[in-house]
Amino acid sequence: MANLSNEFLAELTEIRHYIHQHPELSSEEYQTTAFIKEKLTGWGIDVIDTPLKTGVIAEIGNKSKGKTIALRADIDALPILEKTGLDFASENLGVMHACGHDFHQTSLLGAAKILKDNEEHLNGRIRLIFQPAEENHRGAREVVAAGYLNDIQAIIGYHNHPGLKPGEIGLKSGGIMAAVDHFKVDIIGRGTHAANPQLGVDVLVITSQIVVQLQSIVARNIAPQDSVVVSVTHIKGGNTWNVLPDTSFFEGTIRSFSNEDRRYAKARFAEIINHTAAAYGATAKITWLDGPPVTDNDSTLTPLVFENSKQFAKVFTPISSNAGEDFADYQQVTPGVFAFIGSNGDADAAGWHHSDFLVKDEGLATAVNYYVENSYLLLKYFNDGEKL
Ligand code: NI
Repeated sequence: MANLSNEFLAELTEIRHYIHQHPELSSEEYQTTAFIKEKLTGWGIDVIDTPLKTGVIAEIGNKSKGKTIALRADIDALPILEKTGLDFASENLGVMHACGHDFHQTSLLGAAKILKDNEEHLNGRIRLIFQPAEENHRGAREVVAAGYLNDIQAIIGYHNHPGLKPGEIGLKSGGIMAAVDHFKVDIIGRGTHAANPQLGVDVLVITSQIVVQLQSIVARNIAPQDSVVVSVTHIKGGNTWNVLPDTSFFEGTIRSFSNEDRRYAKARFAEIINHTAAAYGATAKITWLDGPPVTDNDSTLTPLVFENSKQFAKVFTPISSNAGEDFADYQQVTPGVFAFIGSNGDADAAGWHHSDFLVKDEGLATAVNYYVENSYLLLKYFNDGEKL
């Protein structure tokens, strides 16, 4: 177990409150980046020069002694007006750490300090990734494109979970968070006087048919054992009561937990829309915006991390989240393990992205231990080839 003195936990709590008070939006985390660098260099940790505009890459350990693993925390905040009433509430009005990324980066700072203090005993190297821009799903792709995953054996990350109590960890192999797709659709028909629909092609009737039919993807195409969500969230069409418009628009999201379901849902989506539009004499234009794939935990490493984490936490198999997480982009190029770590647990705790979202500092020690103890585990696994 990591040596987490009360004094150091108090220091981490202060750091967390400072970061909470100074949130920055995705890709604009300049002060946050400077703050993290200052802390790391203050502890004697090597910060790597990087082409990334924001975010920090740092390293601990000795490359000549063995292989490298990575630890990742995200650092960005959200465009939300904070309503927690905390005495360390956001000073950046309209921006808030409402997803607990202040908690994530603080725990990675804590782990960094402890790993640095034990550097001479490390049989390998640990890369710290303080990732920018998770909320807009760009950050992980930028880190991968910059090559920081190329020489990595595995990566560890987590998200705080307000439904779990401090000291609890939820972990499972396979899909723990959903693949996220965003669609936009234009239906193009022919407008006419509302009193003479026979002279037009009514896009509102067609859109209504499509929105209802799309639910058949979940009800009749995807296997009942699998989870997929199709949500149309925004419909626009027409301006007044006595004119049928030329076009309509709708958008929404599809969430899935396997590449196969993701591909199949996307294919059925296009077929239903194109054929329904054609049946009524209209055309459709579909714009597809790929979000992160499924957060797909490695089936070999995850059980090892699960067992190892029992020495400092209550570990159990959680229900997957239908939210997305760009940690999944790392798992496309290297094996990864992503956990949920308890950060609140009250029955009325607000969920992620709420203006009254609260994380409890008591959860920090578990998060620090998660990074530290599983770094030791994975370095042992990859460098000693030890059967664990
Ligand atoms: Ni988040």
